Amino acid sequence: SGSGSASEDGTKKIVGGTEATFAPFESMDDNGNIVGIDVDVLDAISEEMGFEYELKNVGWEPVFSQITTGELDFGAAGITITDKRKETYDFTDPYFEATLMIVVPEDNTDITSIEDLEDKKVAVQINSTSHVAAQKVLGQTNPNILAYESQPIAYQEVINGAADAAIGDNTVIMEYLKNNPDAPIKTIEDDSFEKEYYGLMVKKGNEEVLNMLNDGLKKIKENGKLAEITGQEIE
Ligand code: ARG
Repeated sequence: SGSGSASEDGTKKIVGGTEATFAPFESMDDNGNIVGIDVDVLDAISEEMGFEYELKNVGWEPVFSQITTGELDFGAAGITITDKRKETYDFTDPYFEATLMIVVPEDNTDITSIEDLEDKKVAVQINSTSHVAAQKVLGQTNPNILAYESQPIAYQEVINGAADAAIGDNTVIMEYLKNNPDAPIKTIEDDSFEKEYYGLMVKKGNEEVLNMLNDGLKKIKENGKLAEITGQEIE
């Protein structure tokens, strides 16, 4: 693997990483294949640009560390473009707009905003934007922040009573509720959550891979394929 490798016929091949418990962006199907919006976006980009790619389900934190070490060329995992991450990584233009949401037990009445989480046990995906949002309200090292490798685990902790609330990405929470209609949880929106934009991520300075991805992304924005895949228009 690694940037610059070529497949047998000489076509450029790049290797990406993801964490595939994040439907509708990436999840494992019954045949063990990674499926979802991120895969459809990568298929469309690679087809436009004429390169090959492989996407590996390495786990959330390894996406970041393995891009740093060069084991992976890029990350495609519903990754929010943040200023902090931009210190170490480069991102394509955004391909999806999202925001955060709160999940609480169905019968909860005292949590109506992020501020109400201050003295609560809050489940999040580790080092995600939800984790940062929880730290803002509860404090950086508050043991009441319960951090897990995957976002559905955080929702399950609310269902089984280990956490009072979870914070997660809106589209993913809504998909989880669609797939688990009997889950005894409900969602709370809070306008103070800012808009988030997902991008494909490479190691800082890896212009070769960044340009392949970004040029392809520009093309599928222009020809309408991206909107077809995501169901939303984005600049
Ligand atoms: N958008 C959030 C972030 O970037 C969560 C992404 C989680 N992605 C995943 N595939 N588990 O922090």
